[in-house]
Amino acid sequence: MDSILEQHIRIIVRQVLSSMEVTEAIKCSPSGRIKPLIAANWKMNKTLREAEQFFDGLSLAPYDHCTVVCCPAFPLLHPLSGIMKQKGIALGAQNIHEESKGAYTGEVQGELLAELGTEYVIIGHSERRMAGESNESIAKKVKQVLAHSMIPIICVGETQMQREQGMTKEVIRIQVQSALEGTTASNCKFVIAYEPIWAIGTGKTAKPVDVQEIHSYIRQVLSDHKGQACANEVPILYGGSVNSNNIRELCALNDVDGALVGGASLEANSFEAILKELRLGEER
Ligand code: PGA
Repeated sequence: MDSILEQHIRIIVRQVLSSMEVTEAIKCSPSGRIKPLIAANWKMNKTLREAEQFFDGLSLAPYDHCTVVCCPAFPLLHPLSGIMKQKGIALGAQNIHEESKGAYTGEVQGELLAELGTEYVIIGHSERRMAGESNESIAKKVKQVLAHSMIPIICVGETQMQREQGMTKEVIRIQVQSALEGTTASNCKFVIAYEPIWAIGTGKTAKPVDVQEIHSYIRQVLSDHKGQACANEVPILYGGSVNSNNIRELCALNDVDGALVGGASLEANSFEAILKELRLGEER
């Protein structure tokens, strides 16, 4: 019969082995070229009080292993900018108007967003494309964002039907190229988010092999359009039902540099669980 000491040693060894399994090496953006970026897209989901509770609930902030961006609704940008700065989280907006000012009731211009401390702006989200936002309008918006020294997060992605018809790459190429018409040859300060529309808010995530194929294709399109050096610098995020259970597998892919997160970014716990998964990968 084992002594108590032997039994204890066996338990400890088991614990160490299982903890090693949990922290198995997964590194976001394995190429090491780009610091991982995790952006929260809150859509139309939080009041000011709920947003403040969210930031109070983030126990691990500030984060140094990845860039964290949070995109609340327009009216929350100003009241949240102080607490987000304190937490080391960059302020992001969910939209911008394509013109710099004028008679556009209900719209928000780039100059104001920049004045409020906005650093990133989501452009061309599929929910806005579905509401009629065209590739031409997206290109103008990208131009506005850059003109005010902010960083556009340009969303691209195919519908279920386009996917079934084998049109994914064609759709993505056109979306990327037309959005970049608003950039100068030397400007590489933008982010691309690949969000297959059928995977947004549905709980369905694209298969890792498909995600890698499209991300690497996007990098190729960037390289053709902007040169290889630029393509290597631009973070390409994946979006669509990302959570703490799938982030490590997605981020382990060679051309995935982070994620645009909707549903799982709404609670401090589920959002930090995603960031924690990446930290485990970095520590190894
Ligand atoms: P989801 O949303 O994570 O809830 O799928 C992503 C997005 O719409 O940006």
